[in-house]
Amino acid sequence: MAIMEIIEAPDPRLKTVSTPVDTFDDQLKILVDDMFETMYDANGIGLAAIQVGIPLRVLVIDLQPEDTDAEPEECDHDHGGDGHSHVHYPLKKEPRIFINPEILDPADEMNTYQEGCLSVPDIYAEVDRPKACRVRWQDLEGNVHEEAMDGLLATCIQHEMDHLNGILFIDHLSRLKRNMALKKLEKARKAA
Ligand code: NI
Repeated sequence: MAIMEIIEAPDPRLKTVSTPVDTFDDQLKILVDDMFETMYDANGIGLAAIQVGIPLRVLVIDLQPEDTDAEPEECDHDHGGDGHSHVHYPLKKEPRIFINPEILDPADEMNTYQEGCLSVPDIYAEVDRPKACRVRWQDLEGNVHEEAMDGLLATCIQHEMDHLNGILFIDHLSRLKRNMALKKLEKARKAA
């Protein structure tokens, strides 16, 4: 496995419309492994292949929920000095792989989430998306699956689907807000 370089906005490659996968071989498995390693390393919950420069319709997602069946862990990090005590459970790995995903029946009802993106580091903004949808996709062997999704998973898969069509979450913002986000990103990059 290998950690790949994550492409950041405004790199024009992020505007690529990715190509469907038609060969379900070992190379695809290696790509998916590398994408998971890259995503976990960057503390992300979702990653599209184009974010590591591969224009294929491949997504990995892991919402890494807290494992409430496990022993709670001592909280040893600072939550901005708010003085509250926190109980933490270890995170549970729930890796999900979506090859050639399609969104079906997006709900009329919308949900708003504060979104971020590994390709737009340290920028967060509220985005409205359909609250629920059905998703059809293929697995690493090419088998077709379909599932109804809601909550964070529905939001995450729609965000990642956008990447496959060359769209970033900041493209859902007003032009003013998007330009502010891009300027902030450029400034942070220069400072680093
Ligand atoms: Ni993203």
